[in-house]
Amino acid sequence: AAADKSGHRHFMAKEMAQQPAILRAALAAYTDATGTALALPEGAGFDGVDRVTLVACGTGFYACQVAKYWFEQIAGLPADIDIASEFRYRAPVLSPHSMAVFVSQSGETADTLAALRHVQGKVARTLGVVNVPTSSIARETDVALPILAGPEISVASTKGFTAQLQVLMLLALQAGVDRGRLTPAALADHLSALRALPGLINQALDREGQMRDIARHLAEARDILFLGRGTMYPLALEGALKLKELSYIHAEGYAAGELKHGPIALIDQHVPVVVLAPHDALFDKTLSNMQEVMARQGQVFLIADARTLAAAGEVTHSLTMPEVPPLLAPILYAIPAQMLAYHTALFRGTDVDQPRNLAKSVTVE
Ligand code: G6P
Repeated sequence: AAADKSGHRHFMAKEMAQQPAILRAALAAYTDATGTALALPEGAGFDGVDRVTLVACGTGFYACQVAKYWFEQIAGLPADIDIASEFRYRAPVLSPHSMAVFVSQSGETADTLAALRHVQGKVARTLGVVNVPTSSIARETDVALPILAGPEISVASTKGFTAQLQVLMLLALQAGVDRGRLTPAALADHLSALRALPGLINQALDREGQMRDIARHLAEARDILFLGRGTMYPLALEGALKLKELSYIHAEGYAAGELKHGPIALIDQHVPVVVLAPHDALFDKTLSNMQEVMARQGQVFLIADARTLAAAGEVTHSLTMPEVPPLLAPILYAIPAQMLAYHTALFRGTDVDQPRNLAKSVTVE
């Protein structure tokens, strides 16, 4: 059962392949029978809530970083995000009307659990976005919101990340409804876009051969940069995290606009730069950052849809992604972030499911 690779070479491959089905089932579980309204657990509402504070570690933190954009844009709700190990050693200023959200696949990460205990009694409500429904964080939060991804065995989180993102999107939509920012029709449109997402993820998964071709180049590098703007910035961070965890190649994610403020000094013909640029409101700005890399002989790997690629002109390497509504792009672009790391690790011959020095669940500080 759970600990069975179902014909895949690694748990990571199996878990990546499960994503469309998991997202579809979780969406059905959190919407009503008509699929046009939300059906989140009681207590996951935003009446009277004046801000949301999201706390996590690792990949879960990048999901929070994406969610910040969503809460602000969809619901006009101020959103603070923090890494659990930093949050609890500051003097975070908490509003008694705020909701504190703890995102953790395992539900057992020591710093995240300690952060939860730190806010108990100081906020209006605590909410756990967890995968393991019996975990400490699920039990100690006021409301548990399981991501319904099923057991995740691979140390590097894949389906956990996309399932966290979808649940956080549903929470942002709930906030939009409760704050009067989303009409029922607009909500139904968002939910219908989410229902189409698993099909797009399947199309992205089908491009594994092209992602493997890119990974063959990445596997030769000593340093790799990932660039993105908006919600692609946390995806750039996630792509770099996965890559360094699995292949042991140094990789860093940067906000594309920050390129000029430092990382551009690293660029030469030996440094691959992976650029994530769906056709959203910012794609042309990302493309101009990409041109700055090309002007310095950096090797660009542009991951984008056909519309961005058409505007980009000549690039050496590209991966054509399906078109996706910009709000949902971070969930879709998780696929290349995962796949590039997976195949780069295979070329390097490292242990994909059990990378050195890492643990699935970190229960010490
Ligand atoms: C470890 C895992 C990561 C995970 C992080 C947070 O570092 O290797 O994959 O993102 O912990 O774990 P959590 O269970 O709290 O999401």
